Amino acid sequence: MEAKIQSVRASAIEECSKLENLEQLQQLRVKYLGKKGEVTQLLRGMGSIPADQRPLVGQMVNRLKSELEQLYDQKETELEQQVQQKRMQMEALDITLPGRKPKIGSLHPLTLVLDEIKQIFIAMGYQVVEGPEIETDYYNFEALNIPKDHPARDMQDTFYITEEFLLRSQTSPVQIHVMEGQEPPVRIIAPGKVYRADSDLTHSPMFHQVEGLLVDQGVTFADLKGTLQAFAKALFGSETKTRFRPSYFPFTEPSAEVDVSCIICRGTGCRVCSNTGWLEILGSGMVDPRVLAKVGYDIDKVSGFAFGMGIERITMLKYGINDIRLFFTNDQRFLNQFK
Ligand code: DAH
Repeated sequence: MEAKIQSVRASAIEECSKLENLEQLQQLRVKYLGKKGEVTQLLRGMGSIPADQRPLVGQMVNRLKSELEQLYDQKETELEQQVQQKRMQMEALDITLPGRKPKIGSLHPLTLVLDEIKQIFIAMGYQVVEGPEIETDYYNFEALNIPKDHPARDMQDTFYITEEFLLRSQTSPVQIHVMEGQEPPVRIIAPGKVYRADSDLTHSPMFHQVEGLLVDQGVTFADLKGTLQAFAKALFGSETKTRFRPSYFPFTEPSAEVDVSCIICRGTGCRVCSNTGWLEILGSGMVDPRVLAKVGYDIDKVSGFAFGMGIERITMLKYGINDIRLFFTNDQRFLNQFK
């Protein structure tokens, strides 16, 4: 009997040492300590033992029983700790890690430059106005002194919708809308989209212009020069020089194209300015009296100047961008540089 007890004890302890989880432990408890378990069987078998040995054997079995109970309890705690530890490892959270910053958008380079241009003119007392992108032939051309067969229409490859309606090829028609709606003095800039059938590295079928118009009593070419000089210095830096070259636009007389000293090389000559030291930034001129007369202004009393510039072109010069398509393809590697 004693040997039997020892062998039950030995296998109970051995099996316990090999346990891997709590379910197995539960099975082991049943196997040895359950109602039909091996230790319980030993107690039941007491009847067949001679009476004088019973107390001793009984003691041995009971000791084994409590030894195993203790062993299993200990094992249970051990296994539970293992489970706990594993879970902690899996859920490990390093609260000292730096947080993940959400991606924040930024203003488009064209918006940034347009905002700057607006601020400069607002500071000079100009109002910002807008006009329609779908125009009639009259506003886009006729009223601007560009009749139907005028060769100047070839300068702008226009998208026609019908004979009469078109996508505006310039922001100049906003001049007409504004003058039709108010008496002088007029002092506005008009930013917006314009459209031309033209596409290459520096031309896009849709691009942006800012138009400017000032009409008042006694406005001269000197006012135009002073205004655009101040604008160029404010946008490109106080050392910027300006140069007015005679040019032609049907709605201004005289007309001038305005260059600024190259903002890359400061006028000494480089690739961006094709070694000329100068960059063309806008067209301008004194509003042709015929345009003023057409909207009913008294040309004996008032005169004015106008100017128009391409925002893409100015932005490309300012940031050294060589492909206009970068503005419209939404490549974040490009856009993120303007944060
Ligand atoms: N509308 C002209 C263009 O798109 C630019 C321009 C030139 C506008 C002279 C003006 C101006 O207001 O006076 O080419």
